[in-house]
Parts: sequence; structure tokens; C-alpha cells
Amino acid sequence: MSGVPQNASKGAAQKTFYLETFGCQMNVHDSEKVVGTLVQEGYRQVETVEHADLVLYNTCSIRDKAEQKVFNRLSDYKKYKAQGKTFGVLGCVAQQEGEKIFERAPYVSLVCGSASYRKLPEMLHQLEDAQLQNSPQSPAIGSIDSNPSNTAKGGAPAPVVVTAAKTRDSGLAARDSLVRITGLDDRETDACFETEFTARTNPHRGYITIIEGCDKFCAYCVVPYTRGKERSRTSASVLAEARQMADLGYTEIQLLGQNVNSYKDSEGNPSKRKTFAELLAAVGEVPGIRRVRFMTSHPRDFGRDIVEAIDAVPALCDHVHLPVQSGSTRMLGAMQRLYTREQYLERIAWMKAAKREISITTDVIVGFPGETESDFAETLGLLEEVGYDAVFAFKYSPRPNTPSLKLEDAIPDAEKARRLDVLMARQREIQSTRYKRYIGTRCEVMVEARNDARGQYIGRTSHNKTLNFTAPQSENPKSGSYAPVVVTGSFPNSLLGELVV
Ligand code: 5AD
Ligand code: SF4
Repeated sequence: MSGVPQNASKGAAQKTFYLETFGCQMNVHDSEKVVGTLVQEGYRQVETVEHADLVLYNTCSIRDKAEQKVFNRLSDYKKYKAQGKTFGVLGCVAQQEGEKIFERAPYVSLVCGSASYRKLPEMLHQLEDAQLQNSPQSPAIGSIDSNPSNTAKGGAPAPVVVTAAKTRDSGLAARDSLVRITGLDDRETDACFETEFTARTNPHRGYITIIEGCDKFCAYCVVPYTRGKERSRTSASVLAEARQMADLGYTEIQLLGQNVNSYKDSEGNPSKRKTFAELLAAVGEVPGIRRVRFMTSHPRDFGRDIVEAIDAVPALCDHVHLPVQSGSTRMLGAMQRLYTREQYLERIAWMKAAKREISITTDVIVGFPGETESDFAETLGLLEEVGYDAVFAFKYSPRPNTPSLKLEDAIPDAEKARRLDVLMARQREIQSTRYKRYIGTRCEVMVEARNDARGQYIGRTSHNKTLNFTAPQSENPKSGSYAPVVVTGSFPNSLLGELVV
């Protein structure tokens, strides 16, 4: 990650860390908080594992494949442990697997869920101290636990040193002395919102988490178990952060939450509480903010007022990501999605009736237990009916703790793969047609970067489409600036254009 602020005060012996992030935007933003916290602690971020003292993986467990990635990484890096590097697993796999990670990846010293990131400095200090004390003569695994029963004032548990237990892995014991620390505190804390130090990686566009966790318990999903109960931030603190970002020169804000539109203002004074649509509008009216996005919306909680807010406030981007998961009401029931195909389509109809054209994108799962050819055909039909601008499709992956784990995962992987291919091919055709309609129109883009190899600039439209464009040599649109571009060509996933001068 480049462009990360570094705390230069610590001199030559400065500790270094490498952080790799997997998964969703919530994780990306959590990583920004981790980076900010560590830099404040005097660490310097480096680009490679080789150069780091501390190696951190911020993990995702939404599908098995995502979870495997981190264990592959950790098995790759055994040799680095011999060089004295410390390995830590953060995020959803940490929360889901807990101390089991130490068994699967014995080189790991730190396991920390997202609700405990504010505790990272303290945990790292304890880890360092314990590592110093833990001599090679006593090959022990010291376990330091951030124990929920040991909750400090303010609800955040304090890490405490528990016991030092001999490892059963004699190879490991002979080879190494490991000290281990876990931060897996209660996942209901609001502490995750108010992080003092956030190293935002983009100086123009930034995230604000407004709601954490999820209470929906869709049958296939680990999120309620890894991210905990749904809890919202106060609208006052969201708006304060938005104003602060605007003062720093940010012009685009993305409001984040697993179900961002399930937001319930936790403001103490009921008369000051805002609905999600009101909060959206208020952020869109912060002076200096030109674009507001929000991700991800749940169809059950998607009210007409959100569309009305988009109509009323120009800064609200005309893009809504509304995961459908399946086009079959029968499957939606089995998935415990809390809406029918018809109710979903009603929300689509509200968006299609908006004054501005709203670009709609979605997520789909194929091969959920019991999905028949006819259920799948209903999903294909829904793609046609809605006309999505992007679809993120996944093969069903059974996950620990979830209700659907009890259902037989009877659809063979090859059949899931076939359905995925059919769906993506169909969507590609739909997108090709949809993207062509923009040719000849004029769009405002936020300039993201210059692609020197292609002699193009990369822009993003309010619809959230990538619009690559050329500009005369006399012009040099800067990253973060807004520019008018006329669309001259289209591909299934992007547009091509020329700067209007
Ligand atoms: N298997 C496959 N896809 C899943 N998703 C969530 N859980 C699973 C699972 N167990 C998908 C959903 C969700 C997206 C973020 O990931 O489509 O919207
Ligand atoms: Fe997972 Fe469903 Fe919650 Fe989304 S709404 S995070 S899919 S449980």
C-alpha cells in the first residue's frame, strides 16, 4: 500500500509491518484503521513480507476459498518465522477460528478479531514483553488472552496473561519459543467505530463505517458470527467524521455496513435521530462533498425514501448495490432472506421510477442446497428483468456455524460451476448491451489515476462504472479531480471516452 502516512519520529530501529487485506470493503477500511494505529505506535508500513518484523493478514471467511487463502499464505511463510518475524491473523477468520488458528498455523503469534483493533498496541506490547521473557531454554507457548469475562471500563476487555502451556508439537517446541496472544472480545462493542487513527489510503475518497455486524442470519452466511450483532453509530458522529473528511479535502464518501440501510441511529435524544435516508441526504449536503456512495443494502430494509433522497440530493451517487442472491422465492425462503422475488422487484421498480437513472448491481449465489434447474432459470430470468450493470456471482460454499450447514450440500461442484458460467455468460451479454447505451453521452468522472502504458486516464462515473479516457496533451487531469468525458466506446465492464475540453 503506498501513500501511507509514516510516523518519522522513531529513528533507525523503527519496527516495521506488512499488512495484506482479503475480502470486502469493511475489511479494507478496518485495515486503514490498523495501519493508522500501528503508525501512531511508531511502526513503519513496508511493501513486502521480507522487510517486515510484523506480518499481518486481515482475513475474510465469507467463502471457504477466501479462508484457505490465509492458511496458504501462512504455510508459505514458515521460513520467515526462523528470521524472527511475528505473524498475526486479523479479521473474520481470526474471529471464526479463534485459537484453533494456532493449531492449523503454529507460526502465528497473534489472533485478533475486528472488534479488538483498538487494543492492538497493548496486545503488541504484551507480545513483545512476553517474547523477551520467553527464553529458548523453556520452550513454551505462552497464551495471552483478551478475555470477555475480564471486561475493562467502557466495555473493552483488557488482555491478560493467562498460562504458559507446553506445546504438544514437539518439533515446534524444539525449534522455537512461541508466545501467543488473542483479541477475540465481545463482538457487540461500539469501539470499532471510533478509531482515533485511520490511515486512509486514498486522499480523495474515503470510507465511513456507520453500522457494524448483522442480525439477519441468512442461512448460508458467517457474518453474524464473525462480525457480531448489528449496532449503529450516532448520526452526529458520522456527520462529524464526514465534515472532518471534507475539511481534509475528501470529496467522495462511501458509507459502509454489512447492511448499511438497516441503520438505526443510536443518538440518545430521539428527536435528533435520523433514518438512513436522512443520514444519506445529510452527508450529501456536507459542503465540499461531491459524491456519496453506500454499500451494501439489504432488500428487506430498502425503503422508497432512499430513492427519494437520491432524487433530491445531487451528491448521492446514482448507484445501488442490492444483493438478490436468488430469483426464486422458494430459494429465498430456504436462504432466510426475508423477502420474495416480487418484493425485491417492487424495490427495483421504485429505482426505475427515479428521476435519475439508477445503476443497479447485485450478488447471486448459485447451487444453494435444493436449488433446482427451474429455480436457477428464475434467477436467469431476473437478471433479464432487472438489467443489472454488474453481478457478483458465487458458488454456494458451506460455512461453519451457519444454519445451512445442516442441509446436504448435494449439488456437485461441477454443476455449481456450470450454473456460474451460464449466469456470467448471460450477464456479460446483458452488460454489453447496457454499456453500449452510454456511447455518445457525457458523464462526469472522478479521475482515479493515469494509465501511462495505455496513454489513458482512469475515471469513475457516479454510476460506479470505470470510464477510461484520453485527453489532449495540453490537458493533465489530476487524480481526485472531476472531469467531463464523452463516451466513445464500450466493453462489458467498462467504458471508453475522451475528455471534453
Ligand atoms: N457461499 C457463497 N457465497 C456467499 N456469500 C455469502 N456467504 C456465502 C456462502 N456461504 C456471498 C453473498 C453475499 C456476498 C458478499 O457473498 O452473495 O452477498
Ligand atoms: Fe450475511 Fe445475510 Fe447478514 Fe448479508 S444480510 S451479512 S448475507 S447474514
